[in-house]
Amino acid sequence: MNPFDPTLLRQLAATHGTPLWVYDAATIRARIAELRAFDTIRYAQKANSNLHLLRLMREAGVVVDAVSLGEIERALAAGYRPSREGRSEIVFTADVLDRATLAKVVAEGIPVNAGSIDMLHQLGTASPGHRVWLRINPGFGHGHSNKTNTGGEHSKHGIWHADLPAALDALRKHRLQLIGLHMHIGSGVDYHHLQQVCDAMVEMVARIGQPIEAISAGGGLSIPYRAGEPRIDTAHYHALWDAARRRIAQAQGRPLQLEIEPGRFLVAEAGVLLAEVRATKSMGSRFFALVDAGFNDLARPALYGSHHGIELLAADASPRAPRPTVVAGPLCESGDVFTQGEGGVVLSRELPEARVGDLLVFHDAGAYGASMSSNYNSRPLTAEVLVDGDAARLIRRRQSIGELLALEALQQTQS
Ligand code: LLP
Repeated sequence: MNPFDPTLLRQLAATHGTPLWVYDAATIRARIAELRAFDTIRYAQKANSNLHLLRLMREAGVVVDAVSLGEIERALAAGYRPSREGRSEIVFTADVLDRATLAKVVAEGIPVNAGSIDMLHQLGTASPGHRVWLRINPGFGHGHSNKTNTGGEHSKHGIWHADLPAALDALRKHRLQLIGLHMHIGSGVDYHHLQQVCDAMVEMVARIGQPIEAISAGGGLSIPYRAGEPRIDTAHYHALWDAARRRIAQAQGRPLQLEIEPGRFLVAEAGVLLAEVRATKSMGSRFFALVDAGFNDLARPALYGSHHGIELLAADASPRAPRPTVVAGPLCESGDVFTQGEGGVVLSRELPEARVGDLLVFHDAGAYGASMSSNYNSRPLTAEVLVDGDAARLIRRRQSIGELLALEALQQTQS
């Protein structure tokens, strides 16, 4: 699905330059609406933590997950409070508590979703009585690639299911208050694993031996990156989790809340990366279009072999025959190719013949795009624009090279 009008994208590129991230507020709101059956939608902001998107989420009644001190500060800056009207607006989810983050969650009273027993001891020592979730690794996982599989014995995430008694001992020792259990076994949904994880949740809660307030289904809801891929059936997804919730409520004789923690689902389809073709060349039988965005901007193809739809917006009306094209970036590294499969195999994509000055639109780039960008090759972070109805606002200006260099200025020291 493409929420963007080519004329608008051309205008935005002319106004703000390229590369440029462009997001559509209406698409985000539509995805939020699809998940309203859940009691709580907790946005995994690692997917895209721009403050203005966080504010949009907050206005739509979505709470937030944070995985670092920086993400906690972003949530606070966007107006989230650790707890408001009895619900935790910010939860810190991680497998380690670095010292600065520990001090922050204690000072602000931010509930912690603990992925290791060491976290429970460190938190409990600093803040007896703190509110916690337990993130459980049920012993299996799945993901769109091995790097996004977050369950099973090869994953570093969560408290191993058989270690639940030790986690409960740590809670008792420090009088930590248990909010509930959380499971996130990977990104990308398959219904077989979903039923398995729902069953594992019911079984783990039964082992706790005390009522809990909530369960969290984690994130991982997929989106169709390729044309023709099916969309996830959110009603079915909710129904499976709701059935688990009802089984738990019946067993503990008390109702409980059902949370979901999506990142990608809320923002991926709402964002594109715009880049300009700056050179074309043929290498033997291959035709290359080289653009001004690289894997420092959009890392997913280079990192996971991920597929993003690519659309060409021609700079002129001249006829363009279709041509298999390798789309690559400006970085001084051979892996800087957007059309690649898993393992780095270079692929061609059939596009109208690209010419210098054309724009390429990388679709479904709103999640894990800007948030995974880097300064590799000393390239500044790219600007971001949010389109909301008729208004297009610059929600992050382009970083300047001066800002990059300033970080390395030597401090004046007093002798
Ligand atoms: N909750 C937890 C505890 C997570 O670790 C994650 C993602 C999410 C929720 C959100 O998952 P989502 O709904 O977005 O699939 N960079 C990779 C994805 C890494 C996901 C890490 N954890 C990518 O570009 O596909």
